[in-house]
Amino acid sequence: MSFPTHRPRRLRRSEAIRNLVRETRPSTAGLVYPMFVCPGKGVRVDVSSMPGVAQQSVDKLLEEVREVADLGIPAVILFGLPEHKDAKGSEGYIASGVVQRGVEAIRKARPELLVITDVCLCEYTDHGHCGVIKDEQVLNDPTLELLAEMALSHARAGAHIVAPSDMMDGRVAAIRKKLDAANFTDVAILSYAAKYCSGFYGPFREAAQSAPQFGDRRSYQMDPANAREALKEVALDLEEGADMIMVKPALPYLDVVHRVREAFDVPVAAYNVSGEYAMVKAAAQNGWIDEKRVALEIFTSIQRAGASIVLTYHAKDLARWLKAC
Ligand code: PBG
Repeated sequence: MSFPTHRPRRLRRSEAIRNLVRETRPSTAGLVYPMFVCPGKGVRVDVSSMPGVAQQSVDKLLEEVREVADLGIPAVILFGLPEHKDAKGSEGYIASGVVQRGVEAIRKARPELLVITDVCLCEYTDHGHCGVIKDEQVLNDPTLELLAEMALSHARAGAHIVAPSDMMDGRVAAIRKKLDAANFTDVAILSYAAKYCSGFYGPFREAAQSAPQFGDRRSYQMDPANAREALKEVALDLEEGADMIMVKPALPYLDVVHRVREAFDVPVAAYNVSGEYAMVKAAAQNGWIDEKRVALEIFTSIQRAGASIVLTYHAKDLARWLKAC
């Protein structure tokens, strides 16, 4: 097995042969596009740290949704900016909430598009934490009922998939039970099972106005140093009834994506988060990297690591570039 008999360069000589032997074929079929819904009409507010991404009222959102669907992107995930925030995130689980209205409108406008909703309290609470608070502690069990209510209200609005991102223990079981009791047995759960306490969420917190008002999320999101623990989190969520699981962020955690893919036979998603997107945009705007090349490389790498589903703010660009390939 050595030179000169073996020459790996033989299989790299032309695009035709490289294409023939390619192991990972990035496809639009695995893309999910994140979107931010806000109250009002005719509203589109750019998120400064995420060029190309905006908070939009439902009418404006629909214009972009049509573009997304026309590009062949199969799914969107919605995040909501409520009118008012309070201690319990009440606007997160009312029928007239922004996400609920967004889901209904999208289902009507583009029935072929899959609608996923983010289930978490942090966008709706005045303290910005993902659960209810007592003495500056995030309480686990009292939060579960609220998350389940939120998931149910999203299902009632027409969500195909609910995606809990709060990292409370037991939330998948609580949501499954609530959905089943209301006959939403076909609504799937994509759990953010291995969600790390990451500095890469910075720009998202501007987009969703969800930064914690005190402390941080270390008492519920995972320690970036831990990979074996991710397997435990995934196993627990699957036992509780998750249909698909997610690793988040993506790039600094590709080892985790890979381990999860090897250990479990379920669809694995990875979230290429706001900070990862912002870094690429900033470097590209400075002329330091080629955005198209880097974004395609990142997408391919996440799929190569084992994620078949990729949530990314680059989804529209990727779909365009892949079409042209
Ligand atoms: C809500 C949530 C967050 C993200 C997705 N859902 C933020 C957080 O946990 O602080 C981050 C997504 C991104 O950075 O693009 N809990």
